[in-house]
Amino acid sequence: MLLARSAGANPVATVTGKRSSPDAAYFVGSGKADEIGHAVQDQKLEIVIFNHALSPAQQRNLEKRLNVRVLDRTSLILDIFAQRAQSHEGKLQVELAQLQHLATRLIRGWTHLERQKGGIGLRGPGETQLETDRRLIGERVKALRARLAKLRKQHETQRRARGRNNTFSVSLVGYTNAGKSTLFNAMTKAGVYVADQLFATLDTTSRRVYMGEEVGTVVVSDTVGFVRELPHQLVAAFRATLEETIHADLLLHVVDAASPVRMEQIEQVNLVLKEIGADHIPQILVWNKIDAAGLEPSVERDEYDKISRVFTSARTGQGLDLLRGAITEAARDAQDRAGAQEEYSAPDSISTFTHVGSH
Ligand code: GTP
Repeated sequence: MLLARSAGANPVATVTGKRSSPDAAYFVGSGKADEIGHAVQDQKLEIVIFNHALSPAQQRNLEKRLNVRVLDRTSLILDIFAQRAQSHEGKLQVELAQLQHLATRLIRGWTHLERQKGGIGLRGPGETQLETDRRLIGERVKALRARLAKLRKQHETQRRARGRNNTFSVSLVGYTNAGKSTLFNAMTKAGVYVADQLFATLDTTSRRVYMGEEVGTVVVSDTVGFVRELPHQLVAAFRATLEETIHADLLLHVVDAASPVRMEQIEQVNLVLKEIGADHIPQILVWNKIDAAGLEPSVERDEYDKISRVFTSARTGQGLDLLRGAITEAARDAQDRAGAQEEYSAPDSISTFTHVGSH
């Protein structure tokens, strides 16, 4: 429902169902399809959204049977992404994912909706048109891939330059609507778009933040919000956007402490982190929105005395000093580790000697 609203739809009716296995042709059983059909007719609905992934055939069959546009979860999320993407790279990635999604649906007879309305001149394109469409999509996909590869290279160069400066980098990750952008703003005092909508942030935004004399400046990045069952092609498409995350020294995993499903959301975020290869990065849970959850600002440590959880409110500012302290501590630990490593691997001659000695 929230997803649909975020896409700009105005949900009118909800139909739920339980089936042990989805129907091959319609996903839902035919009784349920009729029930949806009646709702469409009675309330003159313009679109039917399934909160599941539909196969191209199921989507087509449903559109034929219901005589309205049918969207599945993937298309819906793609649509929201398309509305929100702001940076050049974000837009390219959304277009690429959309085209890839469309390509699987581009089969003969995909114009059945127009055809059903009938009328001269409304006949759908024939085989040749279909072939042209396929070729055009293929070319566009290739061009998009090339541009993205180039952008990625540029970003890599920028990142390496940053790495050379040894700047400690922190990425905010978390389920959509957890309050990442609000927290980012509160921490960096930058004007990032905040909205009570899903995926208000689509592009990674980074700012340098001075953390005091001890650790100097760190780079804080806000990232795209995660969501349950993020379609696979989106994870792939957004890998580049999430690259900032993969290269971070510390993840602040922002959680909506006031949400009744926060534990499930934490799990979902960790799943995505694993999928993009970011599950090995040190993580601090930021239990945000304590004002709404009725909690007090505080810090929790694990058995190794490392900070594992900070309770904050990005809105009221409570606990933000504790969060800064936690980042400072993590940055200091990382500096100590780097220092120790340098000392350990410094004498080159020793490793040469060992190598020679082993012959
Ligand atoms: P995505 O961009 O979708 O990933 O969302 P996000 O995690 O960046 O969330 P955002 O900062 O846009 O905040 C979502 C909503 O939660 C907004 O309405 C915020 O005003 C609200 N919010 C954020 N932090 C707090 C907080 O500490 N307390 C309360 N009560 N609301 C908050």
